[in-house]
Amino acid sequence: MSDNLEVIILAAGLGTRMKSRTIKILHRAAGRPIVDYVLDLASNISSRPPVMVIGHQRDSVQQSVGSRARYAIQEEQLGTGHAVMQAARILEAEGVRSGNVLILSGDVPLTRPETLKGLIDEHRRAGNALTLLTMKLDEPGLYGRIVRDGSGNVQKIVEAKDADDAIKRINEVNAGIYLFSAEHLFDNLRKLSNSNAQGEYYLTDLLGALRTAGQRVGAMIVTDPDEALGVNSRAELATVESVIQRRVVQKLMSEGVTFRNPQTVVIDSTVVIGNDTVVYPYVTLEGSTKIGSGCVIEPGVHLRDVIVGNDVHVKTGTVAEESEIGDHATVGPYAHLRPGTRLGESVKVGNFVETKKAIFGKGAKASHLSYIGDADVGADANIGAGTITCNYDGVRKNKTTIEEGAFIGSDTQLVAPVRVGKGAYVGAGSTITKDVPADSLALSRTPQRIVEGWANRKREEKK
Ligand code: UD1
Ligand code: MG
Repeated sequence: MSDNLEVIILAAGLGTRMKSRTIKILHRAAGRPIVDYVLDLASNISSRPPVMVIGHQRDSVQQSVGSRARYAIQEEQLGTGHAVMQAARILEAEGVRSGNVLILSGDVPLTRPETLKGLIDEHRRAGNALTLLTMKLDEPGLYGRIVRDGSGNVQKIVEAKDADDAIKRINEVNAGIYLFSAEHLFDNLRKLSNSNAQGEYYLTDLLGALRTAGQRVGAMIVTDPDEALGVNSRAELATVESVIQRRVVQKLMSEGVTFRNPQTVVIDSTVVIGNDTVVYPYVTLEGSTKIGSGCVIEPGVHLRDVIVGNDVHVKTGTVAEESEIGDHATVGPYAHLRPGTRLGESVKVGNFVETKKAIFGKGAKASHLSYIGDADVGADANIGAGTITCNYDGVRKNKTTIEEGAFIGSDTQLVAPVRVGKGAYVGAGSTITKDVPADSLALSRTPQRIVEGWANRKREEKK
C-alpha cells in the first residue's frame, strides 16, 4: 500500500470497436466485468478509493462499481487527456497538491500489483515527473508508439492514427498506465490541446509537454506483455479472457487441483476448488461455484453458482445451477439440477434425472430418469426409475413430501400436493393423488388380467 498515492481510472469511453450495446468496461472476462480487475489492482496499490472517470452509460457503471470508487463525470468524451482533467478537478478540490497520481485505463485489466509497485519504486528512485509503463509487441497495432531519442530517453508518444510509416514500425508501445507527480500533472494538463488526427485531448501529449518544461520522464518496460493488454475489440477481449483463464488454472494447480487437460476448461476467476479434486476436459465452472476437495468433475460438466462438498463425483454431462451437493454424493451422468436443489450427504442422483427446488436428505436416491420438483425427500428414501412429481397444476406449484426411508416404485406419478409417510411403499406404476400413511403400501395400478391362449388365437386369425 502506498500513502500519498491517488489512483484515477479512465472509464468514460463507450468502446466503439466492441460494436456493443454495453459499455466496454462492463464486458465480462472469466466471470467478472473487466473493470473489476482494474479496481482490484487499484485497491492493492492505494488505500484511497480511486477516482473513476465515467460518461457513457454512467448509471450502469455506477451500479456495477458502487462504492468501490469515487466518480468524476466526463460529459463529452474529448479524449484521455480531457478525462484526466475531470478527475484532476476533483483531486485539486480535495486539496491534493503533492504525492503521486497513478492513472489506469479501465480497459487494461491484466497488470499485476507487483508491476505497479515496481513502477512506483522506479518513479521515486529516478525522481521522475512521469514514469509510464511500456511493452514490446511483435504486432504493435493500434497502440501509441514510444519514440526514444539517440540516448534512449523517451521523447514522445505518437498515436498509431497520427503515425507515419517509420513510427508505425516502432514496436515499443504505451500500455496506458502512467505515474505522475501530482504537481506536474495538474500544471501541465491545462496546456493540452486537441490538434491531432482525432481532434482529441491526448493524455499522451503530456509527455512532450513535460520534456519541454525540462522535467524527467521515464519508461519501464513490462517483462510480460500480457500484463498490458487492452480490450478494444472482441478479439482482444478473447485474448484477455484466455490469459485470465490461464492464470486461474495455474493458481488452482498450485493449490493442488488436477486438470487432465487444462487448455479445454472454462473457469471463472470467482470459482474456488479444493485440493485433490480432478477436473476432466471441457468442464465449465461459473459464478460463485465452490468445489470441495477430493472431488471428480467429469467431462462436459457445467456448474453455475453451485456449492459442492468433499469427495463428490459429478459425472459426464451434468448441468447444475444455484444448487448444493453434499459430501460423498454422486450426480449424473447427464443429470440436471435446477435452482434450489439441495442434495445432502451421500445422495445419489443418477442419469437423466431433473431436479428443481428439491431437498434430498442424507443417502436418498433417485437413480434413473425422473423429475423431482418442489419436493422434500427424506433421508434414505429411494425413488424408482421414471418417477415424476406432478408439481404444476396449471396455476400453481405444489409440494411433494417423501418422508425418511420411503420407497417409491418405478414409474410412479406423485400428484402434488401429496405426502408419502415415513417408511411407506408405493407400488410401481402408481398414480398417487392422496397422502400415504407411514409404513403402509399404496398401489393405484389396475389389476393385471391373464387371457389364456389369446396369442395363439390371434396368430390363427392372421393366417
Ligand atoms: C490509449 C493510448 C495509447 C495506448 C493505449 C493502451 C491515448 C491517447 N492513447 O489508446 O497510447 O497505447 O491506450 O491501451 O491515451 N477514455 C475516457 N474518456 C475519453 C477517452 C477515453 O474516459 O474521452 C477512457 C476509455 O474509456 C478507456 C481509456 O480511456 O478506458 C483508454 O481509451 P481508449 O479509447 O481505449 O484509448 P486507446 O485507443 O486504447
Ligand atoms: Mg484502449
